[in-house]
Amino acid sequence: MKNNERDTLTIQNFAHDGRGVARLKGKTVFVSNALPGEMVEAEIVCTHRSFDEAKAISVLSRESHLRVTPKCEYFGTCGGCDLQHIQDSYQLKYKRDVLAEILARQSDLTAEYELEAVTSLPWRYRRNARIAVSTSLEHGLTLGFREKGSRTVVHCLKCDILEPSLSDLLPHLTDLIQGLDFKNSVSEVELLSTEDNVTVTLFIEPKFNASDRIKLSDFSNAHKVSVCRKSGKTIESLGSSNVVHGYYINKLYFEMSPGGFLQTNHEINTALVAHVLEVLAPSKNETIADLFCGMGNFSLPLAQLAGSVVGVESDRDLLAQGRANADLNAILNCEFLRGDLFKCSEFLLARVADCEKILLDPPRLGALDFVTNCDFEKINHIVYVSCSPSTFARDAKVLCGRHKYTLISTRVFDMFPQTAHVELVGVFKKGI
Ligand SMILES: C[S@@+](CC[C@H](N)C(=O)[O-])C[C@H]1O[C@@H](n2cnc3c(N)ncnc32)[C@H](O)[C@@H]1O
Repeated sequence: MKNNERDTLTIQNFAHDGRGVARLKGKTVFVSNALPGEMVEAEIVCTHRSFDEAKAISVLSRESHLRVTPKCEYFGTCGGCDLQHIQDSYQLKYKRDVLAEILARQSDLTAEYELEAVTSLPWRYRRNARIAVSTSLEHGLTLGFREKGSRTVVHCLKCDILEPSLSDLLPHLTDLIQGLDFKNSVSEVELLSTEDNVTVTLFIEPKFNASDRIKLSDFSNAHKVSVCRKSGKTIESLGSSNVVHGYYINKLYFEMSPGGFLQTNHEINTALVAHVLEVLAPSKNETIADLFCGMGNFSLPLAQLAGSVVGVESDRDLLAQGRANADLNAILNCEFLRGDLFKCSEFLLARVADCEKILLDPPRLGALDFVTNCDFEKINHIVYVSCSPSTFARDAKVLCGRHKYTLISTRVFDMFPQTAHVELVGVFKKGI
């Protein structure tokens, strides 16, 4: 098959990214917007040596009972959401199945208990987002999310998974950037909303001139938002004072500046923190290592229950924010260490090996270097928060194989409804 050719495909099952899987002339085809059991007319969008990719143009058979009408007009073009055509309740089952299947296939593991998945609002849950901006002679200014697997920006005037305070800004942002002298230099916009503040951060190398500053200040006043400029790693507020966002987790008050890492879905993050505290069950005679700790999302709630906490993180700014948040809450038993957990030093490994329990929350790449090289002699209990079932399964195989842990439980948290992203927590114990 070649690009743009059409054929009739019968969808046999789901792939791990929410697409349907079919076979055509001996080759596997991944088909977007197609559900198992459906016969669809599909158009090839990209060919590869061992598989092809296609999109369903129409459903020729009876539609699957799992199918619903996508809410968003950009569904199918925008790369942000992949599952809007699937019933909300089935999306959760799908994510549980993906995790169980990847664990079994990649690591030959099954958790002793699969705990009930935790869900939240299916829409309007995202409190932060990176929006792409592009300008061309043909299309003018486009602002929105990129098409799947492409650099092309889909012009979005609203986004139903964003919190309304952010989605409502999208058309106004287009007008704002369109009117700037430096409009061609804005590459991205970051949106951040917490209980007390909304910030719009424009990614732009040159400093704004006086006329642009006036337009940005008018925008800030009209929409009651803070405006920042980001260049490289530096973020500057365009207002008179630094921008600070405040929010609560577990009755602790956190502050952050725009540009930091914040778990996207506040409701699910609150449930995630509660679950981690429950399954890690820290006590006053224990030291807990919180690896990939960010600005202390888990470290500070853990420190309220544990003897002490050692948070490890590579980002200086997040560490500084973590220390400041510990001070704000008068928490004295939490230390924040800078370290590269993808290339663990002897010092770091020794500090962690001396703790009683470990919490891991790595980015998508997982924590292979750490789980391979740490001496787990003294550590009987690990809780692993993951946003990638695949690297979780890889690391779980090392923990359960080489280090003799048992995978006690897994639990899926629906951090990103309408998308195929799976967030999960796995609990590992030794000697049971
Ligand atoms: C999924 S986030 C979790 C952050 C935090 N636990 C939270 O809940 O907000 C992963 C964190 O790992 C940090 N990180 C990325 N690469 C790292 C590395 N090589 N060594 C240490 N930390 C790293 C990132 O800066 C980020 O804060």
